[in-house]
Amino acid sequence: MHARQISNGIRWLGAVDWDRRLFDSLIPLPDGTTYNAYLVEGSEKTALLDTVDPPLAETLLSQLRDVPKIDYVVSHHAEQDHSGTIPLVLEKFPQAKVVCTPKAKTMLMDLLGLAEDVFLSVADGEALSLGDKTLQFIHAPWVHWPETMVTYLPEERILFSCDFFGSHIATSDLFVTDEGRVFEAAKRYFAEIMMPFRAIIAKNLDKLAALDIAMIAPSHGQIYRRPAFILEAYKEWVHGAPRNMVALPYVSMHGSTRIMVDHLITALVAKNVRVEPFNLVVTDIGKLSMALVDAGTIVVGTSTVLAGPHPLAAYAAFLANALRPGAKYLSIIGSYGWGGKTVETLAGMIPNLKVEVLEPVLCKGVPKAETLQALDDLAATIAGKHQEQGFRE
Ligand code: FEO
Repeated sequence: MHARQISNGIRWLGAVDWDRRLFDSLIPLPDGTTYNAYLVEGSEKTALLDTVDPPLAETLLSQLRDVPKIDYVVSHHAEQDHSGTIPLVLEKFPQAKVVCTPKAKTMLMDLLGLAEDVFLSVADGEALSLGDKTLQFIHAPWVHWPETMVTYLPEERILFSCDFFGSHIATSDLFVTDEGRVFEAAKRYFAEIMMPFRAIIAKNLDKLAALDIAMIAPSHGQIYRRPAFILEAYKEWVHGAPRNMVALPYVSMHGSTRIMVDHLITALVAKNVRVEPFNLVVTDIGKLSMALVDAGTIVVGTSTVLAGPHPLAAYAAFLANALRPGAKYLSIIGSYGWGGKTVETLAGMIPNLKVEVLEPVLCKGVPKAETLQALDDLAATIAGKHQEQGFRE
């Protein structure tokens, strides 16, 4: 794709990665992604904001073919999907300085082997004049690494936010056209990489509140011409109380745990609690992560295997522990053949979760009447707790 103008003297560069289906060898990308870079041409200086993932470097380099000079390469974030092509850009424009936070400088030296003298470190709030355009740098740590920053361009009222506010959607649209689709993709993105840092992201949102923003240009996905849409969504995800909802990741080996899961779903629905079950054999962990943004309670359903939880259930517990969702309650249900330490093992895997553990329901073999009654009781307990807490629908 060619460079595309987004505003006066500002062009989108970058690459659409239509076929990518996994990020960081971990995160599903059902709709591909984009790596957005931006070229800001001032009356005196020119800056390139971020680059692209190295496998698509040639796309960016071809877009830069007719650009006579680059004075600055602004690196908002050291992760290689944005920084990885900086060395090739510097080969073409050896006079360019890499502009970044002091923390990013050391990380880029480590990750890309860049020499110390190519950098221009900028402090929080520092500005760089390009002549008739100004780049104002705002440190915004932990979106989602410690070194991140964003850039505000006051003359055009554009915020270049890198990963912050991004979404993984490969499309030929430059600007957001379908807010519903972007809401889901941006929420998935928030859940997968931003959720553990909600408290500091809230502070970053406060820092941005003073800016008059006409457009937010992230480094993944489309550009927001209605910034309030994504700013309000982030406020909800960061500050919103849990919902009257149970996230129920589960795995069943021979069907007994599945019977328990189905029974619990029915019991919860009867108590007016919404449930989102995720069969871990087939689930998209991005969808599970999104559910964890909202869930008031997490229930892990697992068969017992080799005296402990099924590895897929352990994976879900590990993921939830890493993402640090705001759920207030957790329980474990499942079936075992002869014994084991499923509950102890899973409970030991979630030290980051500030949850009250509700009485687990484990049964030997196929669930009998007393097990089904215990699941009814668990559903009633969850419904009561959610009501006490006033969780939102
Ligand atoms: Fe899009 Fe954290 O890199």
